[in-house]
Amino acid sequence: MVTDELVTDASTSGVSRRGLLQAVGVGSGAGVMFATMGALGLAPTAAAQPRADAWTPPRGSDFTLTGRSAKKVVVVGAGPAGLATAYELQKAGYRVTVLEARHRPGGRTLTIRGGDSETDVDGVTQTARFADGIYMNAGAGRIAQWMVTMDYLRELGVPYEVFTNANADAYLYNERSGATPGRPVRYRTAKADVFGYTSELLHHATDQGALDARLTADDKENLREFLRGWGSLKADGTYAGGANRGYEVYPSAWNAHGTPLPGPGSVSEVLASRVGQYFPFEINWEQSMLMFQPKGGMDTTYEYFVRAIGRQHVHFSSPVTGVENTGGGVRVTYTPPHGRARQVEADFAVVTAPAGLMRRWDTNWGPETDAALGEFAVGSPAGKIGLQYRSRFWEDDHRIYGGITETDMDLAHVWYPSSGYGERKGLVVGYYNTGANARAYADLTPRERERRAVAQGVKIHGEKYRTELESSFSIAWHKVPYVEGAWAYPDTTSSGFKHLQQGSGNVYFAGDWMSEVSAWQHGAFWSARYAVQALHARVMAG
Ligand code: FAD
Ligand code: ALA
Repeated sequence: MVTDELVTDASTSGVSRRGLLQAVGVGSGAGVMFATMGALGLAPTAAAQPRADAWTPPRGSDFTLTGRSAKKVVVVGAGPAGLATAYELQKAGYRVTVLEARHRPGGRTLTIRGGDSETDVDGVTQTARFADGIYMNAGAGRIAQWMVTMDYLRELGVPYEVFTNANADAYLYNERSGATPGRPVRYRTAKADVFGYTSELLHHATDQGALDARLTADDKENLREFLRGWGSLKADGTYAGGANRGYEVYPSAWNAHGTPLPGPGSVSEVLASRVGQYFPFEINWEQSMLMFQPKGGMDTTYEYFVRAIGRQHVHFSSPVTGVENTGGGVRVTYTPPHGRARQVEADFAVVTAPAGLMRRWDTNWGPETDAALGEFAVGSPAGKIGLQYRSRFWEDDHRIYGGITETDMDLAHVWYPSSGYGERKGLVVGYYNTGANARAYADLTPRERERRAVAQGVKIHGEKYRTELESSFSIAWHKVPYVEGAWAYPDTTSSGFKHLQQGSGNVYFAGDWMSEVSAWQHGAFWSARYAVQALHARVMAG
């Protein structure tokens, strides 16, 4: 930017920098103007190789100041990586065309609302019969505060709200371990008992001198003080339960002190229940509170992207089947809706489809690229079911307002909604599972999935989990056309990964699988930024 200070500071022979540039610009090519600006330290020089941890978005002035013409780029895929690529390039003046195979944007951030239909690769169609305002995030559901996803929400003006990822009043339910398996216990109770007993043991070990080789007398006193608070210990360092476990009946009026919950069990019982295995989640770097969600469904974000890019530049139901490097650019083959295969030529392509699926295309990027794509080809399965209920009994009866119940059943996780509090109806994600559990549900019909999920959920929530149910919609990600897997975790140190980062000729690769944070939109966005920077550096150097 040419500021007034710069103009003053750089004055030579009474001619300001701006004046000099205007003078050079008039009657000479913009290239001369750029060279002059470069000499004055004002113009972008041929950009250096992109740094993975830095983001210098291309700017329109990179073209206007250099006399270079904006290039044409075809982007394959209208998921987070593809739309962010198109958005960032277009902001700088690139001419972009996005080709998306599916009928909607967002890729794996799919949100299902009433009336939405999806047909899986086996030809099984489901249509959601959800009420107005009810939705299910079938893919992405949560965003950590540090993720770049939050920046795009802000930049695009997408409204968002807190997503409750941890709730002290949600349940833990293990039916395969412990002295009393199959009994839901609240997070707060489980934590009080696990923290209580482990604190007691550590307190005891400290008292016995077992840690003397590691701790000074002051350390020991500090540790004991911490443990007494953390574990709600009595003055003698023992754990005997207490208010932190929660109540059967909470304290209320004057002198109504509440009814304590039964327990705690013995230290052996608490350890054997294996509830502690769920606690690390809350401090996981990707998962800890606060987390956020766009209001009305995750894929709302991508409607905003499409609007910003211009709907006329994003072509839906247009699967790509070929990407070839030509002498000076690329040729992309796709089939528009109700049409015959067509080809579009451009200077560059950025492809963001799942790696495995790209290997089915007609390409001339050669065996090395093909082999590298093969490293990221296995999309792992994941499944979810959305259960719409006519009442919000988990809030009214169980007093659970958002958050997640964890189980050792094949359901794995049960999500309560983080919005719509106080409304009549609501939607619970009745399972969110991966691996063999996801495959087991995927092999069932949608009706059978619902029956199985409900039969399991009743064990935790009681009969209303069955009787209040109105409708359901389930997804098996390895059966979603043009996706065929939930995510792939790449070895980002592999030579294949490095090869793909360079791109192949005029083709660049992006997608969450091309990042250090696969299975998150954050990773997809950074992969897009990386590809955009690499492409732009090339254009500027050309
Ligand atoms: P995608 O979203 O897969 O987009 C790729 C696009 O390419 C798709 O639209 C696809 O249709 C299109 N395509 C494929 N083949 C072709 C073709 N031949 N021609 C044209 N287009 C094609 N992320 C979070 O941030 N938070 C979460 O809580 C979270 N939870 C998740 C839960 C689940 C169950 C799943 C499956 C994902 C979750 N994610 C989450 C991950 C997030 O959805 C992905 O990281 C993100 O969608 C990746 O974006 P992408 O653009 O790389 O790929
Ligand atoms: N990022 C995915 C999730 O949070 C795996 O569920």
